[in-house]
Amino acid sequence: MSTHIGAKPGEIAERVLMPGDPLRAKWIAETYLEGAQCYSTVRGMLGFTGRWNGVEVSIQGSGMGMPSASIYAHELINEYGVRSLIRVGSCGALTEDLQLRDVVAAIGSSTDSNMNRVRFDGLIDYAPVADFGLLRTSVEVAEQRGVTMRVGPVLAADAFYTDRPDLYDSLANYGVLAVEMESAALYTIAARFRARALTILTVSDHIRTGEKVTSQEREQTFSQMVEIALDTIIA
Ligand code: ADE
Repeated sequence: MSTHIGAKPGEIAERVLMPGDPLRAKWIAETYLEGAQCYSTVRGMLGFTGRWNGVEVSIQGSGMGMPSASIYAHELINEYGVRSLIRVGSCGALTEDLQLRDVVAAIGSSTDSNMNRVRFDGLIDYAPVADFGLLRTSVEVAEQRGVTMRVGPVLAADAFYTDRPDLYDSLANYGVLAVEMESAALYTIAARFRARALTILTVSDHIRTGEKVTSQEREQTFSQMVEIALDTIIA
């Protein structure tokens, strides 16, 4: 096993979906994968491997925020040979033209995290971006499935609760669609270790209007997003 994942070598597929919530990982595995087996319960951060349309896929909870997501992405890639990672999560909409339940693919990720400032000695503002191949495939898959998916930049924030909502307004002025909490770390670590990564999100709340989806609606749109992610990762 690695430091934080209790899987034996070979138990994790090269293709991994990463929801933040470990119980979502369980739900995805039980709902979609054939023959799903749990390979890790360490810290309750569940991971499963099974098959989607005959192809081996794993689902690994990442936890919330970039320190947690970084640990799982790093160990999946470096200890288990994972090559493709798609985060499936929720986001808060920053721009007025986004609606609750919309699906968003994050082409790039601005961040207020200090992790990359430390990584580059404060000298470079590194731009974490999605893998182009995965992004292109996800757009094609969404079209085939008749789902309208917005593609654009997001903010990966360290804090869920902010004292600076004015910064969200500024980012919206620069076309940043939504806020979530993991994509910048995922994209950076995947790039560093030559893996492919993408983040697909559903809008669970609207920063401007204060609207939120109900838990039932969250489940329904979550399914659309997971199906796009599964078809994309096996393509
Ligand atoms: N994920 C879902 N909604 C969010 C929000 N408002 N801020 C950060 N991450 C989120």
